[in-house]
Amino acid sequence: MNANIKWVEPAPKRENWFWPTDAMKERAWVSDPKIYEESWADPVAFWEKRAEEISWFKKWEVAYEEEPYKYRWFIGGKLNLSYNSLDRHVEAGKGDKVALIWEPEPTDEPNRIFTYKELLEEVSRLANALKELGIKKGDRVGIYLPMIPEAVIAMQAVVRIGAVPSVVFSAFSPESLRDRMLDCEAKVLITADGYWRRGKLINLKRNADKGIEGTKVEKVIVVKRAGLDVEMMPGRDVWYHEIVPKQSPECPPEEMDAEDLAFILYTSGTTGKPKGVMHTTGGYAVQVYTTAKWNFNLHDDDIFWCTADVGWITGHSYINYGPLMNGVTTVMYEGAPDTPDYGRMWATIQKHKVTVYYTAPTAIRMHVKWGDEWPAKYDLSSLRVLGTVGEPINEEAWLWYFKHIGGGRCPIIDTWWQTETGANCVEALPGIGPFIPTVAGRPFPGIRAKILDAGGQPVPAGEGGYLVLEPPFPPSLLRGLWGDPEKFKATYFGEYGPKYYFTKDGARMDEMGNIRITGRVDDVMNVAGHRLATAEVEDALSQHDAVSEVAVVSRPDEVKGEVPVAFVLLKAGYTPSDELKKELIKTVDVHIGPTARPAAIYFVEDVPKTRSGKIMRRILKALVRNEPIGDITTLRNPECVEELKKAVGYKG
Ligand code: PRX
Repeated sequence: MNANIKWVEPAPKRENWFWPTDAMKERAWVSDPKIYEESWADPVAFWEKRAEEISWFKKWEVAYEEEPYKYRWFIGGKLNLSYNSLDRHVEAGKGDKVALIWEPEPTDEPNRIFTYKELLEEVSRLANALKELGIKKGDRVGIYLPMIPEAVIAMQAVVRIGAVPSVVFSAFSPESLRDRMLDCEAKVLITADGYWRRGKLINLKRNADKGIEGTKVEKVIVVKRAGLDVEMMPGRDVWYHEIVPKQSPECPPEEMDAEDLAFILYTSGTTGKPKGVMHTTGGYAVQVYTTAKWNFNLHDDDIFWCTADVGWITGHSYINYGPLMNGVTTVMYEGAPDTPDYGRMWATIQKHKVTVYYTAPTAIRMHVKWGDEWPAKYDLSSLRVLGTVGEPINEEAWLWYFKHIGGGRCPIIDTWWQTETGANCVEALPGIGPFIPTVAGRPFPGIRAKILDAGGQPVPAGEGGYLVLEPPFPPSLLRGLWGDPEKFKATYFGEYGPKYYFTKDGARMDEMGNIRITGRVDDVMNVAGHRLATAEVEDALSQHDAVSEVAVVSRPDEVKGEVPVAFVLLKAGYTPSDELKKELIKTVDVHIGPTARPAAIYFVEDVPKTRSGKIMRRILKALVRNEPIGDITTLRNPECVEELKKAVGYKG
């Protein structure tokens, strides 16, 4: 843990607190704050009630059971995520309702629109194709797809037959794909020829081919999206349009146990190796369904647009399962927010009459920079609720979002959660509020959270500490890390023991119970809403021949929130140059992807180390942030700090 956390200051001004209007309260599923005390008094009863709203093939016998490091929900219950997302709406007579609207990046291309019935049929066909390829319950299927409808169809098809999807962000490098496919031992990969990004066609198949070399992937299904001339390996690769349309549009959903694995999603921890976060079916379904419904106030007429990529947990829970389980229309956009111009997101809201818009603070900050005139050109009056996720939002961006996008009438739901929690955990409810810039809000009903000091004692209101979740743990909290039970225990229950799930976030809580998240307290960065370990970037850079040693820390960035900065020691025979910097950046692209590129690379002679030889990243962090450096007398090499100050232009 980082002992010298700098808490975000100042506190938000009282005049910037907003409360729900009568109209908001009326539309909200819950508007009486009593829900909090009641549900926190008996979370199991609360979640059982919520669980009754989704469809079960067989009801659970025991709602919750817990022993150290093992907690289970809805034990004995049987259900299927895909059945809950699709079949149940079709069976209820909503087959002709629009389930998914896809907006391609090129503006001269038509939207692809699927009704619930069409989506169910397409999902079933792909599910049957996967069966034809030999996929069975429990098998892992890799999904390396851009933002096209097939990404949702693929996740749905895999869970429909009880297999386990693991989605990999399409902008990740072949090497990142390979690490993940090797770790989860996927047998099949679903990918595409390419996709549009910022007016350019990106060849994805080439990366997929490289990424699965040496893995257990035996078959590859390739969606033709870009019309690129790609190489198909005979016997291994099959076009989606050749294997899927000929299948039956009916595929009975597998009856999954509530605690059967639903999916694996890799995320960054503090080491160079991403961890496979495991989510199970019942608890995940119930919490995703409920949080989507209550936080975004979903009703039958809602058009929900979450701008995250399907490669992240936000895309899983709030493009796919959350909105679909609620039977609303979900919108998915292929491309970049500035293509063809800075108004694309607002034009898309106007075009599809989006009612709920859910995005990241980094995106909002980008729009602030691009200027108010862009949203002003469009009719955004369809919007009712706005959401943010992924990183702390600053007051300026919050107020801009509230005024220029929400027209001062839409609550901003600042949802705190993680890949590990699977679904939203802390935020303000739209019918209750208050909506306070930089403050997420209270723990969701039925979720117990506390702020502790390093010794495990609760801190007084207003003081900084560490955010933990308490039992009964949230239904959608991860159940483990794929193939690494010891790491699971050490990572989340190492500091405080099995009675608290440690989030690794710093936070403070006001007297009312509103929580303000101040950011990670481990070596995990949040780069433009993308989670990344400093160690991952270090590992990538050290693969370059010239690098003898490297330390990466984060530095705040006006738009991206945080960016990585690298201190590089070169091997003998290499000299610093701009050329070498470019090569190092390329190395990061190859090993992780462009999202991880360092914003600055400093070639230095030495980095501060303890007497035992551990790099003191804390000092590097202070240097790049112009913060006080603190005591350096215990270092083995305090003299290097002067050189580093010059290198980074430290002002103190
Ligand atoms: O530091 C917190 C930050 O994002 C981390 C989780 O990252 P990831 O697993 O990639 O999931 C992001 C999408 C759920 C958290 O530990 N974070 C997430 N939401 C917020 C946030 N920080 C402040 N405010 C939020 N609303």
